[in-house]
Amino acid sequence: MKIILTGAGGLLGASILRRLANKHEVTSIIHKSETSGLSCDIADETQVQSLLKNNKGDIIVHCAAVTDVDFCESNPRIAHNVNCIGTRNLACYSAMYGITFIYISSDYIFDGRKQSPYREDDDANPETVYGISKYGGELYVSYFTKKYYIFRTGLLYGTGSGNWIAKIINKLKLKEDVYAADDQVITPTYAEDFSAALDEFIAKVSSDPKIAYGIYNLTNRGSVTRHGLALKAAEYCGLSAKSIKPAKLDKISSVTPRPKYCALSGEKLDRAAGIKLRAWDEALQDYMTKQ
Ligand SMILES: NC(=O)c1ccc[n+]([C@@H]2O[C@H](COP(=O)([O-])OP(=O)(O)OC[C@H]3O[C@@H](n4cnc5c(N)ncnc54)[C@H](OP(=O)(O)O)[C@@H]3O)[C@@H](O)[C@H]2O)c1
Repeated sequence: MKIILTGAGGLLGASILRRLANKHEVTSIIHKSETSGLSCDIADETQVQSLLKNNKGDIIVHCAAVTDVDFCESNPRIAHNVNCIGTRNLACYSAMYGITFIYISSDYIFDGRKQSPYREDDDANPETVYGISKYGGELYVSYFTKKYYIFRTGLLYGTGSGNWIAKIINKLKLKEDVYAADDQVITPTYAEDFSAALDEFIAKVSSDPKIAYGIYNLTNRGSVTRHGLALKAAEYCGLSAKSIKPAKLDKISSVTPRPKYCALSGEKLDRAAGIKLRAWDEALQDYMTKQ
């Protein structure tokens, strides 16, 4: 299959590229990063049109986004241009050229006031600029194309030093104090598990037309507080957890008030496609042993 992958130089995009490149003909779309691929600013409609006109694919996997939540809060115009308009551009021309659209979205489209895992049909009510821009992207996708899958996920970690867990571990190694929220519940997700599930999903939908288009949560299973996650990460890599201090979210996130409860339920994906990811702590242990 011919797959066009945006955000191929990012955390998730790089993992998806590693996973799919041996099986499919993948065209990597990059922005400013040094990774090899075709360069495109997705916020620029002319660039997107020419990209999709000249590189027809069966599926586009759209990972590119401005993902720094605090940066988005201070730069709402950039967040809107890339995450909403960029997604609109890609969805619109994908529909025109008959390309199936896969959009990666976020748990931050919810307000975090629920106390049980969010399902796909729960009402979105984003309260951060990042969350609003990701939800805006979802709305554009469902408006402009019928052949779409939206995969919502939670805190991602994987290869590279830019992710939250890698930063925590780095601080512990430097014997610095780490403050982690004990009042934010998340479903952390290993990028390699996400990519493997996406790979499986793509194989299944190409042979089973009964798997419906629409929104699916795609995360590891279970949930944990950020503080609990930091403690487990330290334990799995044999570091002392003494300098990991519990703190309240509103004390840590001074720029952007984040949603407190972000756990996602994976039941729909399991029911529809028989895809069930392993538990978050098992995935984390696996990740830690590979560091
Ligand atoms: N990371 C998480 O915890 C998390 C959680 C839930 C959902 N998600 C979603 O998962 C997806 C992947 O996230 P990630 O963590 O892999 O993000 P990431 O590492 O920040 O990568 C994002 C990529 O998007 C590219 N990009 C940014 N602006 C662009 C533009 N105008 N045109 C083209 N490309 C552009 C970036 O390229 P440059 O760096 O060169 O600008 C980068 O390669 C995103 O849609 C994100 O919203 C992430």
